Amino acid sequence: MTDSQDLTPAGGTTAGATRAGDGAAVPATDRPAADAPLLEVRDLSVGFRSEDGLVQAVGGISYTVERGKTLGIVGESGSGKSVSSMTLMGLTRTASATIKGQVLFEGRDLLTLSTEELRRIRGNEIAMIFQDPLSSLHPFYRIGDQIIEAVRAHNDVTKKQAKARAVEMLGLVGIPDPGRRVDAYPHEFSGGMRQRVMIAMALANDPKLLIADEPTTALDVTVQKQILELMDRLQRELGTAIVMITHDLGVVAETADDIAVMYAGRIVERAPVRELFSHPRHPYTWGLLRSIPRLDMPRDVELVPVDGRPPSLIGLGDDCSFRARCPYAAGCCRPGMPDLDPVVGAPEHALRCTMPAERRETIWNVLSEGGTPEQAAVAAGIPQTEEVA
Ligand SMILES: Nc1ncnc2c1ncn2[C@@H]1O[C@H](COP(=O)(O)OP(=O)(O)OP(=O)(O)O)[C@@H](O)[C@H]1O
Ligand code: SF4
Ligand SMILES: [Mg+2]
Repeated sequence: MTDSQDLTPAGGTTAGATRAGDGAAVPATDRPAADAPLLEVRDLSVGFRSEDGLVQAVGGISYTVERGKTLGIVGESGSGKSVSSMTLMGLTRTASATIKGQVLFEGRDLLTLSTEELRRIRGNEIAMIFQDPLSSLHPFYRIGDQIIEAVRAHNDVTKKQAKARAVEMLGLVGIPDPGRRVDAYPHEFSGGMRQRVMIAMALANDPKLLIADEPTTALDVTVQKQILELMDRLQRELGTAIVMITHDLGVVAETADDIAVMYAGRIVERAPVRELFSHPRHPYTWGLLRSIPRLDMPRDVELVPVDGRPPSLIGLGDDCSFRARCPYAAGCCRPGMPDLDPVVGAPEHALRCTMPAERRETIWNVLSEGGTPEQAAVAAGIPQTEEVA
């Protein structure tokens, strides 16, 4: 199979990840082990000491991933997506880092494990794939040898058995003639094929959880779609849970069960995927939605990135961190950082914004009809000339 061949389309179920609230609002979910979620992140914060002060890269995030489900983590550059997921794998353990919270994987707190214990889990029970497959594949070693090494690092098998597994995995991810291509070098593959190899390597040890950090960003749109469909198909066949990290809400629209939107190191909105797309509630999520193409929008509607720049993560103030960029802030919000609270009437939907529900509805009605944030703000009676206090 090649990059241009058809693959099984996405399934798209709505199901249960991300139940708990953020930070102190996390309830103790001491479920029996068999019933426990695969991964439960509780109030995770990560800070780095720097010459300019403490960089609070992750400011207390909580989420849950159930077995076989996909959680999409979405946010723009610098919002803490990679730091939070690399911390799960012990990859931010440096002298300058302060890590707090809990990362319960099948009930075991990964933050308390030794580096050696974590190494045994990494690449075995939890696998990770990165944005740029060239930097993750060694250019001087054959594709097959790299997969063989990954298999033998965690399994007591012969080289021949590991090679058979490598060929099997390459076939599974759609590499044509895998028995021959297993001996190729990375530069002999296209970008899309290399990303398939990375997926094959990540899944070779049948992990329970796959963390995919921007797995398709470097690829063109057609190949990106094929890779996402491949991951979706493999997930259904192998039962792997996935944390899919991306800056593009469009990428997770088809593949995720639940979505967490991150801004400045915190989750600002979290909901099952259909709920998030039908009733998005946070002004930042509205901004992200305007930056992806939608089928029900006229083709000539211009896609716009969210105005303004993310705040510095050093000395982040006590108020809503989106306030400086929020078109609806004036006269609308209370001082202090809003909590991530469940939405009244939609308990699976959590939101970090104090805007009154009626005003939110008025604004979303205008935006969903294709109106601009300025038009939506006027409709909601938000004075346009007023300085944000
Ligand atoms: N070792 C470190 N020391 C200091 N600051 C760091 C360190 N690692 C990351 N950061 C900072 O933490 C913040 C979050 O980084 P992170 O890589 O998680 O962002 P991201 O959401 O993955 O962005 P992108 O979409 O660009 O990959 C950034 O401001 C980054 O500069
Ligand atoms: S709390 Fe206020 S400033 Fe923050 S996102 Fe909501 S409306 Fe905007
Ligand atoms: Mg990143």
